Amino acid sequence: MPQASMSQQITDYANRANPYPVYQELRRTPVLHEEEGGPYIISSYYDIKALLHDPRLSSEAANLADPSEDELSQSDETGGLPPSFLRLDPPEHDRLRRIANSAFGPPHRPRRIENMRGEMRQIVTELIDGLGDAREVDVVDQFAYPFPVTVICRLLGVPREDEPRFRTWVDPLVATLDPGARQDDGDGAKTAQEARMQLGMYLAGLVEQRTKEPRDDLLSDLVNSRGPDGSMAMMEVLSTTVLLLIAGHETTVNLITNGMLTLLRHPEILARLREDPGLSVNIVEELLRYEPPVQLLPQRTCITDIEVRGVTIPKGSRIWLVLAAGNRDPERFKEPERFDPDRGDIQHLGFGSGIHSCFGAPLARLEAQMALSELARRLENPRLVEDPPPYRPNAVLRGPRHLNIAFDGIR
Ligand code: HEM
Repeated sequence: MPQASMSQQITDYANRANPYPVYQELRRTPVLHEEEGGPYIISSYYDIKALLHDPRLSSEAANLADPSEDELSQSDETGGLPPSFLRLDPPEHDRLRRIANSAFGPPHRPRRIENMRGEMRQIVTELIDGLGDAREVDVVDQFAYPFPVTVICRLLGVPREDEPRFRTWVDPLVATLDPGARQDDGDGAKTAQEARMQLGMYLAGLVEQRTKEPRDDLLSDLVNSRGPDGSMAMMEVLSTTVLLLIAGHETTVNLITNGMLTLLRHPEILARLREDPGLSVNIVEELLRYEPPVQLLPQRTCITDIEVRGVTIPKGSRIWLVLAAGNRDPERFKEPERFDPDRGDIQHLGFGSGIHSCFGAPLARLEAQMALSELARRLENPRLVEDPPPYRPNAVLRGPRHLNIAFDGIR
């Protein structure tokens, strides 16, 4: 059998539990182009960082030499929702991000996230109390998924009880972020287009309500935004809300689960966290480096020929930025394969960098810090039931599908 290409190895499910040896191999050729029409794969920290700030790289699917490669752009052509600002370049990206930001955080809404602290703590407490007398639980289904879903629903103003409905649309959308799934599954793209439309239609009902009767939620602020950047058109509100709803929980679930898994593999750090909840700040930053929930960004395109380390990447080529490989680059981090929350210098790529750097980072950090410190404090003698756990199929948004742990009781 021919040797699998690196891009196949990155997306191969067999490597999901431990993709890091593949990334180590990848860094030996920091600009890798394996086949005509295939992606240019970038894996060193400094190259990734520089490219994330390079205006010659576009996030718009329309700039691909062959835009039909990208199913989200197809959905736009077939009358679906317009792309969200994640998939737009300046100036449109900047305008929409600024409007969204004025509803989300400082300086316009400096206390929106901060004010949720009490509510978030209550959700965490209820979820842990809800484990009852169980001595074995699945951290994903019983804690790490419901927590950020509940938070993002409350923040946006989406009814929490509708989660089973929107989950059926979110799952196929998230699946298409994985370039491996895209290659294997022609129907997946069509299902994703339909799912995005359905999700948009569902949210349109909520937008209509908020137009008539605004409430104290992010959706109402997006609908009624009237700042120096003007307002969002109805379709822009919908695609922004789809983005926030999905980005707001599909990533954080993995940060919390990867976090619990990593702590259980490093019991001495778990013991320190139990005594000192403040250590969660460093732990979460180190997790974003060591086990980043977004492993790679496979959707950049260069809008002109560019040169990286002497390799010319022609205009229209697709570029994969492998954040998780950059995060363990020994040229950047000392002992990169070691989980070390005490390392002073943790400028990870876990939230990206540059104009698209994660919009929800303050919320994601707070959620993960709270979740991990409370799990550490309240679970007595927690331990892994299986290691490695089964993973979700996705190579981009990587994390365990289940994390079964045993413990002796709840404090
Ligand atoms: C641990 C959790 C999270 C991780 C690891 C994460 C990671 C990322 C990364 C790597 C990007 C850059 C994408 C790119 O450059 O193409 C990004 C962008 C984004 N994230 Fe997050 N994210 C997380 C949580 C959240 C949350 C909670 C929200 C919303 C409340 C959110 C909203 C966004 C949005 C809207 C963007 C697009 C920003 C732009 O294009 O300007 N994320 N995120």
